[in-house]
Amino acid sequence: MSESNMQNKTITAYAPASIGNVSLGFDLLGAALKPIDGSKLGDEVDLTIAEHFSLEVKGRFADKLPPDPVSNIVTRCYQHFIKALEQQGYAKADIPALHMTLHKHLPIGSGLGSSAASIVAALHGLNQFYADYFGKVPFTDNELLLVMGELEGQISGSVHYDNVAPCFLGGMTLMAEFKEQVALSLPVFENWYWVSCYSGISVSTAAAREILPKQVSMADTIQFGRQLAVFTDALYRQDEQLAAAMMQDVIAEPYRKSLLPKFDESRTFSKQNGALAFGISGSGPTVFAVCDNLANAEKINQWLTDNYIQNDTGFSHVCQLDVNGAVTR
Ligand code: HSE
Repeated sequence: MSESNMQNKTITAYAPASIGNVSLGFDLLGAALKPIDGSKLGDEVDLTIAEHFSLEVKGRFADKLPPDPVSNIVTRCYQHFIKALEQQGYAKADIPALHMTLHKHLPIGSGLGSSAASIVAALHGLNQFYADYFGKVPFTDNELLLVMGELEGQISGSVHYDNVAPCFLGGMTLMAEFKEQVALSLPVFENWYWVSCYSGISVSTAAAREILPKQVSMADTIQFGRQLAVFTDALYRQDEQLAAAMMQDVIAEPYRKSLLPKFDESRTFSKQNGALAFGISGSGPTVFAVCDNLANAEKINQWLTDNYIQNDTGFSHVCQLDVNGAVTR
């Protein structure tokens, strides 16, 4: 599209919610979510050319963000992106400023990768907008992912890609953390349903990391390594039973579950009613149950809705994995 055609055009980028860790892959494994009823579970960012940069924040959870747009992560994404464009050789005067609108649909501190969804929608939208404007994609997916991880680290206190990578690339991703290949896309079980229930309370990722021990025992280290390796192999061989059996969290869940009222009861009900696996989504309080049929998923979804949700802010969805990740329209 030519520069003049971009003057009045708005691009909207959507980035889905995600499950960090997926129980067995602390900081190294993540999965993107899509409710099966077609409802949106993700953040959106609109971008359009303007005289000067400005940010507007709308949506159900807009009032939970700092009121000053300067401290919003989307502003930081914009500033970072423009600086990177200049470093690539684009002249400042040739880069049009943008008005951006963040539609904050995901609750903050929910364990659904809320900050990651804002960061990914903003950076993917910026890359797509300037690609259309300049007729050349400014940054590769891997370059963009490195920036996404860095910005996520500014919010959560440490750089980890297990939300930004699946949110951006879709499906299930394993972190390589190799500069030239930050994340790898894994095969998935297409028949699995992921019930995801947000209780309505807020848990800060930084606080939920603070309560973890600084050292891990030899036995837990070996179990962690075995599970992640066997799970990955089982995905490639499509061995559902073995994959599900590996989905246990020896790193975070034993410490974090004390922050989550009704966690043990929710696990017990889910496992007794056909869940193949159950765990904490990211740093919580969202929990997830994996089922291989819709009837079990719906039954567990209803029970979690009635029992795990603690206030009006909570919600529960039967999801499948969002294989598209971030998209623009
Ligand atoms: N891997 C991270 C954690 C995900 O568990 O702390 C939270 O965003």
